[in-house]
Amino acid sequence: MKVTVFGIGYVGLVQAAVLAEVGHEVMCIDVDAKKVENLKNGVIPIFEPGLTPLVKKNYEEGRLQFSTDAEMGVHHGEMQFIAVGTPPDEDGSADLKYVTAVARTIAQHMTSHKVVLDKSTVPVGTADRVRSVMEETLKARGVEIPFDVVSNPEFLKEGAAVSDCMRPERIVIGTDNDDVVDLLRELYEPFNRNHDRMILMDIRSAELTKYAANCMLATKISFMNEISNLAERLGADIEKVRMGIGSDSRIGYSFIYPGCGYGGSCFPKDVQALIRTAQQIGYTPRILQAVEEVNHDQKLKLPEFISRHFGEDLKGKTFALWGLSFKPNTDDMREASSRVLMEALWERGAQVQAYDPEAMDETQRIYGHRSDLKLMGTKEAALQDADALVICTEWQSFRAPDFDAIKKSLKQPVIFDGRNLYDPERLSKRGFVYYAIGRGA
Ligand code: UGA
Repeated sequence: MKVTVFGIGYVGLVQAAVLAEVGHEVMCIDVDAKKVENLKNGVIPIFEPGLTPLVKKNYEEGRLQFSTDAEMGVHHGEMQFIAVGTPPDEDGSADLKYVTAVARTIAQHMTSHKVVLDKSTVPVGTADRVRSVMEETLKARGVEIPFDVVSNPEFLKEGAAVSDCMRPERIVIGTDNDDVVDLLRELYEPFNRNHDRMILMDIRSAELTKYAANCMLATKISFMNEISNLAERLGADIEKVRMGIGSDSRIGYSFIYPGCGYGGSCFPKDVQALIRTAQQIGYTPRILQAVEEVNHDQKLKLPEFISRHFGEDLKGKTFALWGLSFKPNTDDMREASSRVLMEALWERGAQVQAYDPEAMDETQRIYGHRSDLKLMGTKEAALQDADALVICTEWQSFRAPDFDAIKKSLKQPVIFDGRNLYDPERLSKRGFVYYAIGRGA
């Protein structure tokens, strides 16, 4: 099938590469000429395991094309994916200007039937907006060409995006026209073998499903973070509690890891956007507001521990920081806890020596101008002569470090762990002062 994808961000690029891999002819359109040129030369704008070889292979074999020519893109595919960004407005609601601009472009150039698929995370009612923008544009052109708008949200996780997309747990399709279902079955047939993963529903339910999924996951995390704050005060160990409750199959083990707050481009933005949606219709979303507040405070947890140990004034102190990305296996630092931590440390006069396996370039791009940040080439180098170690991201390579070497490098044997990587008893036996989340520090 011929497919066009507007927007070569995380979602658009991964979806395009995966659709090309199974044999569809995919054309990606983006307004960013440099990004398009880079992709043609095999330079991928994001770090995502498995993505670079997939993109290169499918580009070389001709199934994946990149262009800035929107008109050509509209003519190419009967399936037109909208995968452009929906950044938060000043008030937290999703800004739809890129989505509606693509809708207008499609309607401006189309000469035959198109299925327009909303892949971006968009508020309930966006498909109706897309449809009316397209109708107006076609009317202004004085033509009548049939089209369908479908909500087809994406559930991939950064760091596992290619495999999530190749083996989706579900393919949610929101449509009011049964006739397009056959086309969508054909498009997704390679991902829908063995058992049917397609969940068909009306458009608004599909749009809300995407927000409900992310908000439920964010709720689980904030709930655990709240319980970890109780555990800390009650002398309980949140890691024991986590295992205790996770073993109940109704609760499950996933997304109940306490930590120094969730980040990324999705949870913070989507929780805020659903709060705004609720408020706009006169409903107070009490749980969502609490999820957001708990997460905000949780990102201040490590700076609080540091003040508890070293006092408020951190002038002359240096902190080794392991982990800058918002989670492992990505270089993405959007809404990362490491940023809140570094900014709090700098405000109190401290220096930071930071290391991350993938996010060094991104850190340089954001904070390269700061003289109180040193980017170090290895995790060991980051420790050198620092007063303490702080951990913000649970990269695999941080899980079993040489504790004797850490002790030798640090001025004081103190670890502030925002991801509960180590056993408190073992660390205390080795002579460390160990602060972890919800473990009675
Ligand atoms: C999230 C969802 O998991 C995807 O299903 C969804 O498609 C995606 O958003 C999206 O809307 O595009 P992602 O933001 O890539 O994916 O990352 P997650 O793995 O969900 O992690 C989000 C944050 O939660 C990270 O900061 C992570 O450290 C934190 N987290 C996760 C916890 O603090 N505890 C946990 O138990 C799990």
